[in-house]
Amino acid sequence: MQRAHIIGTGSSIPERILSNKDLESIVNTSDEWIVRRTGIRERRISSNGRDESTTDLATRASVNAMKMAGISPSSLDMIVVGTVTPDRQFPSAACMIQKALNAENAAAFDLSAGCSGFLYALTMVNNAIRAGMCKTALVVGVERLSSIINWQDRGTCVLLADGAGAVVVDSTEEHHGILSTHLKSDGTFWELLYSLDGNSYVPEILQDVNKRPFHLKMDGNRLFKRAIGCMAEISREALEHNSLCSHDIDLVIPHQANIRIIKSLANNLRIPMERVYTNIHKYGNTSSATIPIALDEANRDGLLTKGAHVLLVSFGAGLTWGAAMLKWSISDGPGGRLEQAPPAPERQ
Ligand code: COA
Repeated sequence: MQRAHIIGTGSSIPERILSNKDLESIVNTSDEWIVRRTGIRERRISSNGRDESTTDLATRASVNAMKMAGISPSSLDMIVVGTVTPDRQFPSAACMIQKALNAENAAAFDLSAGCSGFLYALTMVNNAIRAGMCKTALVVGVERLSSIINWQDRGTCVLLADGAGAVVVDSTEEHHGILSTHLKSDGTFWELLYSLDGNSYVPEILQDVNKRPFHLKMDGNRLFKRAIGCMAEISREALEHNSLCSHDIDLVIPHQANIRIIKSLANNLRIPMERVYTNIHKYGNTSSATIPIALDEANRDGLLTKGAHVLLVSFGAGLTWGAAMLKWSISDGPGGRLEQAPPAPERQ
């Protein structure tokens, strides 16, 4: 039976750093509040002058992943992008990336699942490979949330940021790679996090031409409580499905929305924080990009050894949540792909 495994990871983040101190001059907030309540110290925000659009960031992340995988763009059969901030409503970010990469043989499409976009996209590719529909695919999580942030809303603008991560997924006959994926949604709670206007849901558009579209609205407190329960529940489902227990997990890579959510999840699963990857202090919440960026950093920093069990778990707007259980297959020994890959870039 064909399985899917990750053979390359990559990421790309904007150069411009926006610190908590910088935010103190934009909204009524403080470095102390943001660090204590979220764990975020700084985040990256795209600049137009630096070619840091959604497509630019995603393309750079993809090139890095393909370099590690040692494949050419023409060998991609499929490109699936999880994003809520494509450069245009259409064509898809995936088609823009396809053009930038010159990946002429790929079927390319976007998928909207809030912060769970990457895990939803990974699941589609995993299933396509298992079904024999494709052999080699690119999965991207990318956001330019700065373009839809309401910079007067201190409840959200201190949390969200920009970035991209990508993985190359290939078929394999070995019993490793993506062991299972698990997805859930509950649309009854869509009002906990949504874009206020935009797309076709703007009945008064001619009267509201000055209104900036796509502002976010979030009920952070209620989301917070749901996030912990949903992520813990789906992590358990992934463990049970693979007959694994918490002790068997070498690294958890959770969605980076709030350090308190991550710590509660770890506590709930009885997994010590040393085995939970966090980079929220540097990048904030980049929605569907948090997991692939963290996966790339962990991989390049040598935290993932061949055979390691890695649990990816997400939660986001929709509501959507998901998990993936991986048995890591990139060799880190002599001749392994990581031998040739540069370490994660210094991002200070
Ligand atoms: N700086 C200072 N004070 C702030 C603030 C900021 N940036 N943002 C909110 N506050 C204030 C609120 O106005 C409120 O003040 P009040 O008590 O005078 O009304 C107080 O802090 C507490 O607000 P609350 O929303 O209850 O705080 P919280 O502890 O829940 O933390 C979040 C807020 C947003 C950090 C937290 O709820 C969260 O992370 N939620 C989940 C986010 C999430 O998962 N998002 C999307 C899914 S990926």
